[in-house]
Amino acid sequence: MYDVFNLPDIAFPAGFLWGSATAAHQVEGDNVHSQRWADEQAGRIAVPSGKACDHYRRYRGDVALLARLGHGAYRMSVEWSRIEPENGRWDEAAADHYVDLLERLKNRGIRPFVTLHHVTHPLWFEKLGGFAGRGNLRYFERFLERLVPRLSPFTDGWIVLNEFNLSTAPDSGPLKLAMLRAHARGYHIIKRHSKAPVGTAHAYIHWLPARCHDPLDRVLARYADFLTNEFFFHAVRTGEIVYPHTDAAYDREVKGSMDFWGVNYYHRQMADARRAGLRGTPFRHTQLTLLREGPMAVRELYPEGLIAAIERLGDRPIYITENGLPCEDDRFRIVSIALHLAALREAMDRGADVRGYFHWSLMDNYEWDSFAPRFGLVHVDFRTFQRTPKPSAYFYRDVIRRNGFGAGLLKKYLRELPTVAAWPPGPGRSARP
Ligand code: FCB
Repeated sequence: MYDVFNLPDIAFPAGFLWGSATAAHQVEGDNVHSQRWADEQAGRIAVPSGKACDHYRRYRGDVALLARLGHGAYRMSVEWSRIEPENGRWDEAAADHYVDLLERLKNRGIRPFVTLHHVTHPLWFEKLGGFAGRGNLRYFERFLERLVPRLSPFTDGWIVLNEFNLSTAPDSGPLKLAMLRAHARGYHIIKRHSKAPVGTAHAYIHWLPARCHDPLDRVLARYADFLTNEFFFHAVRTGEIVYPHTDAAYDREVKGSMDFWGVNYYHRQMADARRAGLRGTPFRHTQLTLLREGPMAVRELYPEGLIAAIERLGDRPIYITENGLPCEDDRFRIVSIALHLAALREAMDRGADVRGYFHWSLMDNYEWDSFAPRFGLVHVDFRTFQRTPKPSAYFYRDVIRRNGFGAGLLKKYLRELPTVAAWPPGPGRSARP
């Protein structure tokens, strides 16, 4: 059991970057030229994004909100499908929109980290085969060559691609490796136009064997770790691309294509050799029930996984590019922030060079097929789009102001801890196993 009130006082180094993260498709709304929008309209995705948070129209107010909440940095993504809605047709107004957003952030002293591809891209690109399509990298290059110089005066950090490392499917190789090369090409293009550091947003999964002494589960956990984490670290460090069922290759462009490791960290995962697919039952947490319904209902807090991730990434500076949790009771978010920051501090005390933390997310948003998981520091009413900061937003603001926190601050926001629900849920509860 975690006892957050007994955490020691925690201070971060001067200049540590504090911020939050969003992604265009999850907040902007009416992202009509993207491949996801097409899938949503065709019913292939349960709940469509619609107006999301209407951020594309309300961005000025959202920048003011970030400033009020004390954020010193903001990770956001640009939407390629708005800027190039048809193959070769450049929408200057959309590019201007992002320039204006970045300029406003800079004027408020908020340092922008720009993600150039976060899940969505133009439908026309998808129809041509997306990143895996032969010769298609040139379209992404063309987009970057034109956009990056426009954004670079206002950008303090770059993330070429978000989380392309995740899949464990047997046929995941071609797309993943194509995206790895797109990352590397993007890295070198950005370096020609910008002095700001370039990295990635790697989804770090902490793998465990479902049965700790079972040899097959143990092998599978190592294998899953290789598929999702190690292949990528290895490729960037050495230029050697090794992926199961694929002939190994050496790619000069991939070697060293990273100024910092960006870590998106949420949870650990079981590898189970006795189930179809490689992912086992989500970890059966006994501590907290964060959300009543949906696939994320089983999410738990496991800050130790963040330490494990950081320990593997000692060769470059690190930014936590995402970390957060979906919860209805906002006090869990405060507990989660406190525990993950304590984990971060522990890793830093042992030598890790962590430069910043971006909480996912600034506001409740569209979670790819649902509005149910509420990840925001700020509550969003999806009918009126009214933004209301939650207590966690003020807790985080105070952490930023002090560059750390202690039990006193926690007690100010958490007079009592959230109720702990035992697993499995009692009768009448429909949380998923
Ligand atoms: C990450 C994604 C981000 C968001 C969070 C909850 O995997 O990068 O877009 O959906 O999860």
